[in-house]
Amino acid sequence: MRATRGSRGGRGLLKRITSVEEMRGEAATLRKAGQVVGLVPTMGYLHEGHLSLIRLARELSDSVVVSVFVNPTQFGPSEDYERYPRDLARDADLAEEAGCDVLFVPGASEMYPDGHATVVHVKGLTDKLCGAFRPGHFDGVCTVVAKLLNIVRPDLAVFGQKDGQQAAVIRRMAADLDMDVSIEIGETVREADGLAMSSRNSYLSPAERADALAISGALTEAKVRYEAGETDPAAVLDGVRSAIEERPSATVQYAAAVDRFTLEDVGVLGPGTMIAVAVRVGGTRLIDNIVL
Ligand code: PAJ
Repeated sequence: MRATRGSRGGRGLLKRITSVEEMRGEAATLRKAGQVVGLVPTMGYLHEGHLSLIRLARELSDSVVVSVFVNPTQFGPSEDYERYPRDLARDADLAEEAGCDVLFVPGASEMYPDGHATVVHVKGLTDKLCGAFRPGHFDGVCTVVAKLLNIVRPDLAVFGQKDGQQAAVIRRMAADLDMDVSIEIGETVREADGLAMSSRNSYLSPAERADALAISGALTEAKVRYEAGETDPAAVLDGVRSAIEERPSATVQYAAAVDRFTLEDVGVLGPGTMIAVAVRVGGTRLIDNIVL
């Protein structure tokens, strides 16, 4: 398929590419021209969290590639792949306004043609936290991110701290596979009231949206307790769990205090500890974390 230039909004210069081969060619041209290339992988339905990563990539690179691909291999059989929100026209406008030059939007058969048989598995780090509740999820994430990095061969790739385990796993993968790319992590962007932005927030009913606010509230409270001198993970995690579970529609899947890079449980809270939670709010699974 030919690259097309976006016609609405932004600077009117956005190039949209759907084929792997063409994306490779475009990236090669940029590299030959001496451009520093930044990649921001996303599953689309862009919000301010994604846009902040695109802006960060814009600051750090000459050319910014944003991928929009709802990756089937990272969803479990009973998860929300089919109903995951999609709005490509809006994504293109928002990405362009934030500084994206090339939007890479491959189809599922372009990324996983018949015969595709390779999986990238990061051991250990992927067994815990979300990995324990979403078997195979990180294999899907690592495989698609490795493929995107091989297609675009960017100088840097930007991910969000919002998905703290994903950030740690991708760093590990890039280091272990000697990938010639710098992995950059952008801060979590929140709604005005504190709820971490997520494409999945669109699933919440008004009552669930109100209950979901307890997640960021509990994490902020944990940080306040730590800053007031509490260093016992169990005490702080108990507080986090009970503050969230006071809300009728909320059930905590896990609450953990781990090192932000190794994801090992910590015995004592300290700088670099990530307090991470996964919570079911009604039928929606939300994750959030705070780094001390
Ligand atoms: P997606 O959920 O679309 O997120 C794309 C990127 O945006 C990820 O790096 C994620 O951590 C970041 N992000 C999401 N919400 C954020 C927020 N509130 N603040 C800052 N950054 C935020 O994560 C994925 O897609 C996929 O797993 C992907 C890496 C694209 C592989 O398919």
